[in-house]
Amino acid sequence: MKDSNFLKENNARHMWHPMTHPADSLANPPTIVTGANGVRITDVDGHEVIDAVGGLWNVNLGFSCRPVKDAIARQLDVLPYYSTFRGATNDAVIELSYQLKDFFAEDGLTRAFFTSGGSDSIETALRLARQYHKVCGEPGRVKFLSLKKGYHGTHIGGASINGNANFRTAYEPLLPGCYHIPAPYPYRNPFNETDPEKLAELCATALEDEIAFQGAGTIAAFIMEPVLGAGGVIPPHKSFMPRVREICDRNDILLIADEVITAFGRTGSWTGCRHWGVKPDMACIAKAITNGYFPFGATMISDSVAEAFENDTSGLAAIGHGYTYSGHPVGAAAAVACLAETARLRVNENAAARGAELFEGLQGLKARHDLVGDVRGGHGLMCAVELVSDRASKTPIDKKTIARVHETTYREGVMIRVSGPNIILSPPLVLSAEETGKIVDALDAGLNSV
Ligand SMILES: Cc1ncc(COP(=O)(O)O)c(C=O)c1O
Repeated sequence: MKDSNFLKENNARHMWHPMTHPADSLANPPTIVTGANGVRITDVDGHEVIDAVGGLWNVNLGFSCRPVKDAIARQLDVLPYYSTFRGATNDAVIELSYQLKDFFAEDGLTRAFFTSGGSDSIETALRLARQYHKVCGEPGRVKFLSLKKGYHGTHIGGASINGNANFRTAYEPLLPGCYHIPAPYPYRNPFNETDPEKLAELCATALEDEIAFQGAGTIAAFIMEPVLGAGGVIPPHKSFMPRVREICDRNDILLIADEVITAFGRTGSWTGCRHWGVKPDMACIAKAITNGYFPFGATMISDSVAEAFENDTSGLAAIGHGYTYSGHPVGAAAAVACLAETARLRVNENAAARGAELFEGLQGLKARHDLVGDVRGGHGLMCAVELVSDRASKTPIDKKTIARVHETTYREGVMIRVSGPNIILSPPLVLSAEETGKIVDALDAGLNSV
């Protein structure tokens, strides 16, 4: 590896970074991470911090998960790649599909279509939803409904159902036939409703209204994250997703759960759908399925959707979709090891316990800092702190101030993620109570510094 001078000199010069202005990466070079251990990362200057971002919501088991590393190394030696396109498969992916069927049995999801990551899993679900209706004799069902503030990756399909203009405007025109309803976000919503339960009902009514307006027979699917993540960690009231399920059922609209960050324990339950007691028609998974060590994902499919395809005799159910890396044996081996560690460590239980502590600590910060407008969490290890320059008017914080909070918190030993006015926390699920306290203390110092 080149020395640190070389790395700093060439930082961001010959590559573009996702989700940032190229000039900004040059003016404010990104942190160069060169190592990691447990829940900590080390930068090029040897500074070690707790990673309260958890990689990017994916390193649930931390950076030192030996069984997953060993599984990857072993698989690379035995079979580093083989395709799963028609007529071939590999042993690792067969084993994984068997294990995923068990893991997702309670959610009613029994088939997997493998992908290379979250955006691919979303794209797959959207395509299969349209095809499902064609197979079932309703070819007019082609539209998609989703939530404002939702995040569903960055393919054109995903961006089209995305609920944040930052990921859409520059890339328009997007896919036609995608419509959005208000998110159940009590801090800011068009109804000025702060009561989460009443707001959930208003949003559900908006969904019904949109379905009536579009015509149920034109809609393929509604997609939502069980807890909205990148949009600023927005947990809906517990009544919301069951109500959405009931509305979808009544209108023969498929419910796609985007579980890219919520599957595998993050909410304190094994899946986000299980957290709310809902069975989706499809679920998109990725990220923690391999602990972030290998790019991998899947779209999980329910029995009823699967049977419509499998029993088709017309030929309409032939799948014209797939990726070179669908069912990659190294990813599959990593996922098999990851599932075993995830279950052995019962990371869902730790996520619930540490998540409650983190949420309580952040509420303490709200009591001490006027800068904190809203604190969201209470459902496992995913929390957000929304900063405002004025609490009464809820004016979003400016970029410079939140950057200072970020910088000081980092110097105090914790990496956090800034997204607009939000500080988003999604640490590894193997975090200790002491490390949870350290995150709150470092953020306290960050907030004190402005
Ligand atoms: C809920 C959700 N869906 C989809 C995606 C896209 O996943 P990927 O970045 O792996 O394509 C993300 C990524 O953060 C996500 O949070």
